Amino acid sequence: MKSRLFYLLLAPAVALAPIQPTAAAGDVPIPFHLAKGQLLYEKYCSQCHGARLDGSDDGPPLVHPFYKPSHHDDGAFYRAVTQGSRQHHWNFGDMPAVAGMTPKKMDSLLPFIRYYQQQKGLF
Ligand code: HEC
Repeated sequence: MKSRLFYLLLAPAVALAPIQPTAAAGDVPIPFHLAKGQLLYEKYCSQCHGARLDGSDDGPPLVHPFYKPSHHDDGAFYRAVTQGSRQHHWNFGDMPAVAGMTPKKMDSLLPFIRYYQQQKGLF
């Protein structure tokens, strides 16, 4: 059995865990004015497109040549989020319209995605 001291020392580490820097920031420092977009991304997109925009079992990476502005312009992002998108580039299935997302929220979210893509050298 662990000593009381062990749990006393463990408690602050557990309490602090949720406020560690977020994975989406990853190796890309996110400027303050994009923090809201980052939060929205984490809430609405990261479960499929990955905390570092690098994809998951449920969706493709957004740091990918397909999704740079010259291939998928901003309008394509607004459309995908509000109307969903049929499977065509990958084999993850369709992207459903994202419940709770609005064009206004996209106004904050999309600059975060574009900044991240740019920092990763996509364009
Ligand atoms: C439930 C999983 C899921 C969520 C949540 C999700 N996506 Fe997707 N998304 C996908 C999949 C799967 C595709 C790929 C469809 C294909 O091309 O085969 C996709 C494709 C896209 C595309 C490309 C659309 C096109 O025209 O080809 C954009 C842009 C996009 N997602 C943005 C977002 C953004 C921004 C969010 C958050 C607001 C988000 N997605 C949330 C699964 C998801």
